[in-house]
Amino acid sequence: MTTAAPAPKANMGQPIPRYDAVAKVTGRAQYAADVPLSNPVYAVLVTSPIAKGHIQSFDLTEARKVRGFVDIVTHENATRLKEVKLFSDGGYLSTTNQPLKSNAIAEDGQIVAVVLAETFEAAREIAHRAQINYAAATPTATFDSPGTTAAPAKGQLSNFREDPKVGDFAKGYEDAEVRLTAEYFTPTQHHNPMELFATSCVWNGDNLVIYEPSQYVYGLKNGVAEQLGIDPDNVRVINNYVGGAFGSKGSMTPRTAIIASIARRLNRPIKLVASRDQGFNISTYRAETEHQVQLGASKDGKLVALRHEGREISSRADAYAVGGTKTTTRIYECPNVDSLVTIIRADRNTPGFMRSPPEVPYMFALESAMDELAVQLNMDPIELRRINDTMREPIGGKPYTSRSLMACFDEGAKAFGWDKRNSQPKSMSDGDWLIGYGCATSCYPTQMAPAAARVRLQRDGRTRVEIAGQEIGNGAYTVIAQAAAEKLGVPVENVTVFIGDSNLPPAPVAGGSNSTASTCSTVITVCEQVRQRLFRALAPNDAMAADKSRETIGMGQTPATQAAGSDQPFDREKAFDALGVNVVEEYGQWKPDGAPPDSFRAMYQGHTRMVGGPELKDRIAYAFGAEFVEVRVNRWTREIRVPRLLGAFAAGHIMNPRTARSQLMGGLIWGMSSALLEATEIDDRYARYVNDNLADYLLPVNADAPSVEVILLSEEDDQLNPAGVKGIGELGNVGTNAAVCNAIYNATGQRIRRLPVRLEKLEV
Ligand code: MOS
Repeated sequence: MTTAAPAPKANMGQPIPRYDAVAKVTGRAQYAADVPLSNPVYAVLVTSPIAKGHIQSFDLTEARKVRGFVDIVTHENATRLKEVKLFSDGGYLSTTNQPLKSNAIAEDGQIVAVVLAETFEAAREIAHRAQINYAAATPTATFDSPGTTAAPAKGQLSNFREDPKVGDFAKGYEDAEVRLTAEYFTPTQHHNPMELFATSCVWNGDNLVIYEPSQYVYGLKNGVAEQLGIDPDNVRVINNYVGGAFGSKGSMTPRTAIIASIARRLNRPIKLVASRDQGFNISTYRAETEHQVQLGASKDGKLVALRHEGREISSRADAYAVGGTKTTTRIYECPNVDSLVTIIRADRNTPGFMRSPPEVPYMFALESAMDELAVQLNMDPIELRRINDTMREPIGGKPYTSRSLMACFDEGAKAFGWDKRNSQPKSMSDGDWLIGYGCATSCYPTQMAPAAARVRLQRDGRTRVEIAGQEIGNGAYTVIAQAAAEKLGVPVENVTVFIGDSNLPPAPVAGGSNSTASTCSTVITVCEQVRQRLFRALAPNDAMAADKSRETIGMGQTPATQAAGSDQPFDREKAFDALGVNVVEEYGQWKPDGAPPDSFRAMYQGHTRMVGGPELKDRIAYAFGAEFVEVRVNRWTREIRVPRLLGAFAAGHIMNPRTARSQLMGGLIWGMSSALLEATEIDDRYARYVNDNLADYLLPVNADAPSVEVILLSEEDDQLNPAGVKGIGELGNVGTNAAVCNAIYNATGQRIRRLPVRLEKLEV
């Protein structure tokens, strides 16, 4: 059930300030490249200026003359690394095009040499002086370039299992009273986290410590060990803070094992901080996508046919698919659904996860098409969504665990003033500015993964929580502290959280918006074990009842209804007296319902057995939102401004409305940025990125987003996990692209189907 005002709980649900706020604003927070090393060697990467061909020769005479020169590692003298599979194929890597393997060049910006020197400046100078002679071939850049190959995503990738379909689309579409076919395009985009891609490697005998910003310390640890052919127990990854990631630091990039192997050979610590432009190539990105959406509806707005075909660019080395149509085929009631995702291979670096894959490009297409259909039907776009709202997804007929989409639209519309909208394009204006209102559905699958944690409670209430989660700006420290404080009945200030270190009990990749659900559910479970020990010491007779009800911890239980004793206050000191100890420590594991039997072993091996979204057994779980945008388009200059962004979201239990709000605000702003500004331009002749810097890759500043409002609806969902959490990291930017374009249509009468919408695309 949904109401407007979430009721705060004791700790979980309180808008407490970020756990790491003071450390961050005072500069005390140490990011990977900040960690001081003793007598380090500085590494600088040399990357290829051609996208296809091979290296003919090196001339390093001038380079070697630079004072402070230590070494240059190329394919001619690099350590051979073991082959490792792509993350999406059950491995670790972001690309299987491993650099320094041979003289072949398969993508622009491929690492061709690593320069080592006594100072960063010397290393950079050496890199500039290194002469590399290439034999260039003509590369294939993108869609419609000669030389691409195309094949269905299904069957090429182990993580891409389906092109959902149901009923008879062709017949449904043919019989429909109203039909729409439209094509959409999303451009190449890069994550551009503030923190650059950095790696420091330190060997101590056979033991390797890696300082690197990572969304997955266990994946990186195990992946590097596999590439180097060493025991994972000898590898430790430390990253207490990550300065933005958004997917780009989720899978292991090939640079880490290279740096580690050189550090071993030199027997010195190495520090590498890649440059901003190199980050466009040595990591992942969102490749450009094309879509055809076909909708058939009755005159009263009921969908009778839906088809979504997506085409995505990937590299020659790897078929990466963002995940396709699993969401867009299931979000509305429709009897006849068809879909197909095709991967187009070009001479490009391998794309990867980017905040809200695949919902951002695919939902842009669907939610634009829904708006176009509403125009054809002469119907309010919110009403069109209401008519097609459903509590069961149409492909498998599975029920949503909870779905507050229309409540989000109702609350959002009220706060936004949607009733003041005139649906007639160009009918609202203010002086020289045409005004448009647009809206769209946002949604993101609820995903969860197994994790382990260790919790230590002292007699005086001080608590230590250890779990190898990752703080990527998501508020991980904060919500973990809150979960422990609530469960153990101690003040949140008493809780110390240790994350970002692969020596801690394993947690999943901080991706797919699963972190809070997974880590908090695990911490709650382990805190419950601590409670049970204390509770048993105090009341041995009640303990049997408590033990019995413990069996129900996990699925089907909200935090408030877990094991007996869990919500009963008791005297902590008396319990410690009864036990005769000063400290209680418990290690425990949690896995979501439906996670495979090998889950716990896999998590130690750096594999996340994530379940959720449409892949849950017998049900489907999504978080929802309704997003509203006001645009103003200047009649004469076509300048586009966005004075207001508003999103109303329902995502199960909100652990912390303050950190949640900032996540969702960030998402809305990114969504607007993605609609209007962001695009990586490709030079089709050379298959190279042109604007690989933060001056030319357009990003919004505060003045571009003067008002961003987030409304959090309270939603209880007891079918998910012990924390009752759905996850919000990626929910915020899913609907925004379409909402912006829908608002631009309302302002100007022009439907822009190719992002980003820049003023040159508008005719006035
Ligand atoms: Mo998120 S793009 O799954 O890191």
